[in-house]
Parts: sequence; C-alpha cells; structure tokens
Amino acid sequence: MTPSLTTTYLGLQLKTPLVASASPANAKLDHLRQLEDAGAAAVILPSLFQEQIEAEGALHEDLMSNSINNSPEAQNYFPTSVSGPYGLGPERYLEHVRRSRAAMSIPVIASLNGSSKAGWVEYAKLLEQAGAVAIELNMYHVPADLLESGRDVEARYSAIVEAVCSCVAIPVSVKLTPYLSSIGHFALTLVDQGAAGLVLFNRLLQPDMDLLKLRLVDSLELSTPSELRLPLLWTAILSGRSKQASLATATGITTSHDVVKAILAGADAVMTTSALLRDGATEITQLIDGLRRWMAEREIVKLDDMRGMLSWQRSKDRSVYTRANYIRILDHYVHS
Ligand SMILES: Cc1cc2nc3c(=O)[nH]c(=O)nc-3n(C[C@H](O)[C@H](O)[C@H](O)COP(=O)(O)O)c2cc1C
Repeated sequence: MTPSLTTTYLGLQLKTPLVASASPANAKLDHLRQLEDAGAAAVILPSLFQEQIEAEGALHEDLMSNSINNSPEAQNYFPTSVSGPYGLGPERYLEHVRRSRAAMSIPVIASLNGSSKAGWVEYAKLLEQAGAVAIELNMYHVPADLLESGRDVEARYSAIVEAVCSCVAIPVSVKLTPYLSSIGHFALTLVDQGAAGLVLFNRLLQPDMDLLKLRLVDSLELSTPSELRLPLLWTAILSGRSKQASLATATGITTSHDVVKAILAGADAVMTTSALLRDGATEITQLIDGLRRWMAEREIVKLDDMRGMLSWQRSKDRSVYTRANYIRILDHYVHS
C-alpha cells in the first residue's frame, strides 16, 4: 500500500509536507510551475520588504511634490529600493501573486518582510486581495541597539504579528529567529497574537571579512545539513504544545532522511530552499519519493502515524532534549 503523505499546514490541506520556501527562483513563474510539476505541495514567494514599500511611498510623495527632479541621488536610490533584490517592486509583487495564483493549483503563500511596526504591515491586506492563500511574516532583525532589551525586541515582534494578523482573514505564519532568550515561550505568545503557524527557523546571514581589502563582504552560502539540528530540536520541543499553530521545519533540509526526521520531530510542513537552488526543482520529487519509501519500508500508512513520534511531549526521557543530553553528547565524544 502506498503511504499517504497528506498533511494540514495553516489550515491548508497539502498533498505532501514538502513546501518550497522563499527564494529568488520563486520570483519566476516558470520555476514555480516546475516546482508544482515536481510535487511541491505549496510555494512561498520571495519576500516583499518593508524597505521597498516605504521607498515606494516616499517616491510617490516626492513625485507629487516634484522634488525628485531636484535630486539626482534620489532618482538613483529610490527605483532600486523599490524593486528590491528580486526586481519585484510592490506593484509587480502583487501582480506576481495574482499570476502565480492563476497559473497554479497548489497554494501560493506570500512573504512579507519587515522589522518595525509601521504602515507597511497593511500591505498584508493587498497580498490577500491579490490571491495569496496565506502570508509568511519574516521579521529579520539584528538587535545591535544595546539600549533595546530582549523584552523590547519581543514586544516589537508581537506588535507586528498582531497588526498583520488583524489586517487579514488568511492565515499568517511567523518565520522565527532562533536567537531569542526563550524561544518556546515567545513562540506561544505569537500564537496568542494570532499566528497560525511557526516556521523554525529563519536563517540569519552574517557578513564575512575580506582580509586583503580589510572590509566586510556580502556573500551568501547555501545551507548545510548540519544546520537542521537546531530547527529539529525546537520542532520536537514545540510539537503538540499548541493546538492552534502549525509547525514547519526549515533550514538544512537536504535529503529525504532530513524530511523524515522533521516529521518524527513533529513538523506539519517541511521547507527547503538551498537543496532546490543547488539541484533544481526536481529535487522535490527525490525528497517526496524518499519519504514515501521510508514509510513503506516500515509499513507506516500515513504521516500522522509517525508525526511527533520523537517529540519532547512523547518522549519517555525528556532529558534527551535538555542539559543532560548536552553532557551526554560531550561524554560520547570524549569516550568514542
Ligand atoms: C538566495 C536566497 C534568497 C532568499 N530569500 C528569502 C526571502 O526573500 N525571504 C525569506 O523569508 N527567506 C529567504 N531566503 C531564506 C530561505 O527561504 C530559507 O529560509 C533558508 O535558505 C533556509 O532554508 P534552506 O536551508 O533550505 O536553504 C532566501 C534564501 C536564499 C538562499
């Protein structure tokens, strides 16, 4: 018997747990179609950034007052900021949502990306009107302001989540940073604010250093499988702890065994970007086939029968997730 891979994420019925997370490739309709053909259960569009929305607002204001004509610098700055890294300005982004929605039968999730509560959050409404079935909220932020406490940072995130959720009727998921003092507690606070799902985790990007030119350099390296450990740990700890929120494991998903691990930890959906950028959209098929094979070999007929099997809640010895395991891991290294 072929195992059933259907799952529910953000209240959406998905045919498999495999979701193609936000990436530049998802700005192209052809690539989205390839993902659908390869078996992706849903796609997340690349982000529309707070900076783009605010730059567009400023551009309109300047155009209205004609002041842009007096400022050649502004002419150079604004168009780039408005179009963002993916060449999709706010208007084109909405058009991309409409077209993707029309072209595909799988759910299209829009991504809104910003870090302080302001007018941009209302763009969520326009994304909903354009046809997004859900919104993933990415609040990427580096808390370099040493006057801002952890409590302040969390209050700011909560306010954004509450504002976005109150604008729309579609589900909103939060792509969380792992760098919070008490992730689990805060995650449940966000669910109270209206988040329908938690994506574990957002991958933070740090600059490297050029030792010849003595300056920082921007370079992006795709993720490695070892980066899965942290999302896996928190998927396992949060699994079954909130009835209202779905969990997605993201970052480091590279092979079908990684997908299996995420489901065993308790994921409702499993997201991947780097594997698809490295090996192409068809990699989705490999991940799905591998998951199905693993289940068939163990006569597991549906995902619910294995989901959360290795979660904190269902673990007989919960110390495997905490300090005791830290000591055991060190001990194992020293004595093996
Ligand atoms: C080139 C590139 C661009 C990305 N752009 C976005 C983005 O616009 N919005 C977002 O939320 N995440 C973005 N991400 C992050 C991915 O969606 C994903 O969360 C991250 O790469 C970790 O997953 P992975 O280990 O499968 O790559 C981007 C990742 C890459 C590699």
